[in-house]
Amino acid sequence: MRELSLNILDVAQNSVSAGATRIEIDVLENTGTHILTVRIADDGRGMDEQTVRRLPDPFFTTRTTRKVGMGIPLFKMAAEMTGGTFLIESEPGRGTTVTATFRTDSVDCTPLGDVESSICALATMNEQIDIVYTRAADERKFVFSSAEIKAMLDGVPLNEPSVMTWLSEYLKENAAALGDLQPGE
Ligand SMILES: Nc1ncnc2c1ncn2[C@@H]1O[C@H](COP(=O)(O)OP(=O)(O)OP(=O)(O)O)[C@@H](O)[C@H]1O
Ligand SMILES: [Mg+2]
Repeated sequence: MRELSLNILDVAQNSVSAGATRIEIDVLENTGTHILTVRIADDGRGMDEQTVRRLPDPFFTTRTTRKVGMGIPLFKMAAEMTGGTFLIESEPGRGTTVTATFRTDSVDCTPLGDVESSICALATMNEQIDIVYTRAADERKFVFSSAEIKAMLDGVPLNEPSVMTWLSEYLKENAAALGDLQPGE
């Protein structure tokens, strides 16, 4: 994939399918170590050990519409290609956490891209799920919770066009204020 933000959207979509009520997405950039950590954690139905082991195999999927599931394998490949790491932790009935680290000084590091748009899409398409987004650049940090915003909106839906526009700007401004590790974004 051209941008990690698309991988993030894809992996978070698994959390939605798993019936999560809360999805945490962390994008943590460390300019000193040149390591970018992306963590997607959900409280969905989880998976047993055997399922977790088979996940990185593109020919393993529980979907019935097509025979390959590429979300996890592509994300894993994107991380490992940079010399980074990839880990899935899951417990049936409790949830799943996917953690990938990327070496941003690697020539094979995929640009992060527009994560805020992914977050905005996830939050507005899944009103019932609390999307908690943490974006950090070294010691600077920004935390967003869609449930908190929803509570403030007092019944106005998140997918109301004016709310979506505001949300998108709000996320982008706060992320931009942190400064960026990857140049050219
Ligand atoms: N967060 C999760 N919670 C529970 N099960 C999961 C989770 N993530 C993945 N799975 C299981 O692992 C399978 C493979 O996931 P993967 O994203 O690789 O492919 P897919 O979702 O089946 O297809 P695609 O992502 O290409 O639409 C899923 O079908 C699902 O059964
Ligand atoms: Mg998937």
